[in-house]
Amino acid sequence: MGFNSVCFLLFFTAVVVAVNLDITTAQIPGFVSLDCGGQSNFTDELGLNWTPDNQIIYGITSNISVTNETRQQYQTVRYFPADNRKYCYTFGIKTRTRYLIRATFLYGNFDNNNVYPKFDISMGPTRWATIVISDANTIESQELIFLASSETVSICLSNATTGQPFISTLELRPFNGSIYLTPFENQFFLSVSVRINFGAENEDPVRFPDDPFDRIWESDLVKKANYLVDVAAGTDRVSTDLPIDIGKDEQPPQKVMQTAVVGRNGNLTYRMNLDGFPGPGWAYTYFAEIEDLGPTKTRKFRLVLPGDPEVSKAVVNIQENAQGTHRLYEPGYPNITLPFVLSFKFGKTSDSSEGPLVNAIEISKYLKISDGSLDGEVAANLVSGYKLLDWAQEGGDPCLPVAWSWLECNLDREPKIISIKLSGKNLTGSIPSDLTKLNGLEQLWLDGNALTGPIPDFSGFPNLKIIHLENNQLSGDIPSSLGDLPNLSQLYLQNNMLTGEVPSSLLNKNLVSNYTGNTNLRSGSSGGRRNRNIFIGLGVGAAALFLGFITSCLLLRQRKKYPKTEPKNAMPVMNNAANEAAQSFTLSELRSATKNFEKKVGSGGFGTVYYGKLHDGKEIAVKLLENSNVYQGKKEFANEVTLLSRIHHRNLVQFLGFCQEEGKDILVYEFMHNGTLKEHLYGPLARERGIKWLKRLEVAEESAKGIEYLHTGCVPSIIHRDLKTSNILLDKNMRAKVSDFGLSKLAVDGTSHVSSIVRGTLGYLDPEYYISNRLTDKSDIYSFGVILLELISGQEAISNVSFGVNCRNIVQWAKMHIENGDIQGIIDPALGNEYDIQSMWKIAEKALMCVQPHGNMRPTMSEVIKEIQDAISIERGVVAAAREHSSDEMSRHSMLQMGSLDLGANDQDLSIDESFARPGPR
Ligand SMILES: *[C@@H]1O[C@H](CO)[C@@H](O)[C@H](O)[C@H]1NC(C)=O
Ligand SMILES: *[C@@H]1O[C@H](CO)[C@@H](O)[C@H](O)[C@H]1NC(C)=O
Ligand SMILES: *[C@@H]1O[C@H](CO)[C@@H](O)[C@H](O)[C@H]1NC(C)=O
Ligand SMILES: *[C@@H]1O[C@H](CO)[C@@H](O)[C@H](O)[C@H]1NC(C)=O
Ligand SMILES: *[C@@H]1O[C@H](CO)[C@@H](O)[C@H](O)[C@H]1NC(C)=O
Ligand SMILES: *[C@@H]1O[C@H](CO)[C@@H](O)[C@H](O)[C@H]1NC(C)=O
Ligand SMILES: *[C@@H]1O[C@H](CO)[C@@H](O)[C@H](O)[C@H]1NC(C)=O
Repeated sequence: MGFNSVCFLLFFTAVVVAVNLDITTAQIPGFVSLDCGGQSNFTDELGLNWTPDNQIIYGITSNISVTNETRQQYQTVRYFPADNRKYCYTFGIKTRTRYLIRATFLYGNFDNNNVYPKFDISMGPTRWATIVISDANTIESQELIFLASSETVSICLSNATTGQPFISTLELRPFNGSIYLTPFENQFFLSVSVRINFGAENEDPVRFPDDPFDRIWESDLVKKANYLVDVAAGTDRVSTDLPIDIGKDEQPPQKVMQTAVVGRNGNLTYRMNLDGFPGPGWAYTYFAEIEDLGPTKTRKFRLVLPGDPEVSKAVVNIQENAQGTHRLYEPGYPNITLPFVLSFKFGKTSDSSEGPLVNAIEISKYLKISDGSLDGEVAANLVSGYKLLDWAQEGGDPCLPVAWSWLECNLDREPKIISIKLSGKNLTGSIPSDLTKLNGLEQLWLDGNALTGPIPDFSGFPNLKIIHLENNQLSGDIPSSLGDLPNLSQLYLQNNMLTGEVPSSLLNKNLVSNYTGNTNLRSGSSGGRRNRNIFIGLGVGAAALFLGFITSCLLLRQRKKYPKTEPKNAMPVMNNAANEAAQSFTLSELRSATKNFEKKVGSGGFGTVYYGKLHDGKEIAVKLLENSNVYQGKKEFANEVTLLSRIHHRNLVQFLGFCQEEGKDILVYEFMHNGTLKEHLYGPLARERGIKWLKRLEVAEESAKGIEYLHTGCVPSIIHRDLKTSNILLDKNMRAKVSDFGLSKLAVDGTSHVSSIVRGTLGYLDPEYYISNRLTDKSDIYSFGVILLELISGQEAISNVSFGVNCRNIVQWAKMHIENGDIQGIIDPALGNEYDIQSMWKIAEKALMCVQPHGNMRPTMSEVIKEIQDAISIERGVVAAAREHSSDEMSRHSMLQMGSLDLGANDQDLSIDESFARPGPR
């Protein structure tokens, strides 16, 4: 089974693992450099002392080898199973100190699988980032700046959606004094987005020992997608050897400040992607005058951010602000809302003789700190009593982002522990008193241990339903307060050393219980034998009732837990064959409906399509299949038709029936009034019918949902094999539906590919499939990527004229432009300026992922949908904001977020038709 977030979510009985690592004191006090998967201590060429993570008892180490990466810490990784657990590294830290923590990931194809991993990392209960590997030889890096509020910090890996979670290094760097203090540091971490050294000497970053805190100042010469593009003409690189007065040592290091760029023509412009944005963030610029201006020249400039006129009011005059040359001036915005694609400009003022100069910038996103579960502290105390046992070494928060293996939490924003299952874990001593502080507890399983002492007082547990204490060595009386627990329904105390009598409060309760095997326990004095029999009878009856109750509860819980996801893969779409026979039309009926096949409305690989109207006025599309060798026999045709009749989705063209007479094979579909997407994008009608960017995104979303349904909602899943803009049809309301599905071969359940004759359409054809003849759903993803590129560019997939010499293919052409950061070069001129560049970038980047040469590097349809939905909410937000003439950035973004919530919660994504396919009540 491939990617399946549904299973992930539904069976979230998480298991967590951790290790405690002693802080090693390298020559820089407090620096920790952990070489994950490494074997030995070593000092690198920067002078940093690395230690292996070999104290961690989980995960597997692996050697990797990446060209040009010779640093020892990148020769190994540690990876973890792709299960529902979290895997944590826990560090001891100093409270009230600010730290930089950096996690890096170099995939290096450690598993010889070339499946690029995707997983989450969290810091304690706070989800930090999703790590998406998109190149085996590129290091992914995440940095966070935080104020330590407790004595440990845990970094956890979890939620693998593809591949196996892994890690290369973890670095912890303490700061001095008040550096990076923000007014919000108790509620927000700073997630570092960019830290740029302008005018850098070469592509190497500046870091330790030049930067005493080992921040990484990336060179502005580094080439990557949409990083520092759109550089204004006349941008010069300048540098100095003179020392720079950077004040306290917390500022950018001297080496960074000694280089800069200058806009000789009056402007410095840049554009780049800000990972993690849009949202509120922290942005600082660092200036030092390093040119000799002399007395007659002046340098004054303003920062210009499109859409943020306030920012442009402040004028920078470095010499004046810094009170001299070669001195640092560092204006910034501690709280500014920035977009995902940031374009900025420094423009000289009209009275300035010189153009602007900038040495460095630093931008971080505010990341909301999760308060964690309410029982976090109690749980930490509880496990601290069992330090050496595996289950007690799971680090991080007990509930977030994933709960420890042996407990369950409720779904509140600040969750509470509701179930503890420590059966057979070799627990000794008395029942930990900390347990009695977990007042949300509903189930307690401590059976099969060697616990001694009395049963504690659980009277503060209004929710406690199930108690398993059997097979221990508990002694003393059974507390009568157990009988007062209003919800208690199961109590297992057998095989202990309990004494006294079973309290009458328990005997009178409707309860499943077992007290046997406690030799000195009497069953209760009040009623004698007869009463006891009644009690057992009642108990058994109640047990049956109760079992029924738990089962339905569990179902309810699962539903409730993840209301937005449907267990699609579990949907037996192909059941009930008998009920779903396709409607059979007679040829004469269709002849009359189509006026003897008079009006041709389309033709495709499978046949010609005619317009028709049934007696009841219903408009239909009648597809007269070519008598090619697609449908060789009656049986195959019948199979196909039966299949088609069972696929219902609002984004798939509805199949109405079939006709097989006089050697003709005919399929009948609903009629789609607005034709194909292709006609709307180019061709004679495109100009008048031209569709706007938002509409294109909606079309993309709708058709993607149709395809996703074929891939994941049907059993066996269906690979379309011939996705293209002429197979995406638009109905009366311009809603997109995918057509011609199911005419290709079905994917066989359980195998990942189906070998068959290569078919498809030039320009949309997955090159991997073409070469290997191995068909997977990733071939459809490729074709869909091409469709996304067509939506962006309004260009046909294959063209002799549009893409220049030696390039006939939209993929090569678009890839070249997008990777150079030149997205403008491919945007359909018909869109004018009516689009948001951020949403455009999102789609362009996803489209490139879809057309990766290897299927396993391509995203799944649901990932693509997510990105399209994000782009739509950006676009809708922009449209709405423009409508309201609102200049309040913050409110605009909160509105954006609401927009995407609305999308996510849209339960109506599934059509009513589909309900038949869901499993019925058992
Ligand atoms: C590695 O370094 C740590 C701390 O610096 C030390 O405790 C440990 O003994 C060293 N291990 C080896 C194998 O030298
Ligand atoms: C590796 O380094 C060599 C020489 O520095 C360079 O020519 C080559 O492009 C590099 N290869 C990669 C994959 O970075
Ligand atoms: C796991 O990752 C997927 C994909 O990145 C995401 O949609 C989902 O919300 C994550 N689940 C949890 C519990 O964080
Ligand atoms: C700087 O940018 C502004 C606005 O984009 C433009 O009007 C001006 O001509 C530019 N100046 C130069 C010298 O290019
Ligand atoms: C930032 O500013 C906005 C309003 O401009 C405010 O709502 C928000 O709470 C501030 N703080 C953070 C950390 O975003
Ligand atoms: C319990 O202890 C026994 C004996 O020491 C050991 O063999 C067993 O693996 C332990 N079980 C667990 C779950 O730790
Ligand atoms: C009670 O526990 C004992 C010992 O485990 C078992 O043999 C017996 O069947 C149980 N009785 C009931 C009613 O469940």
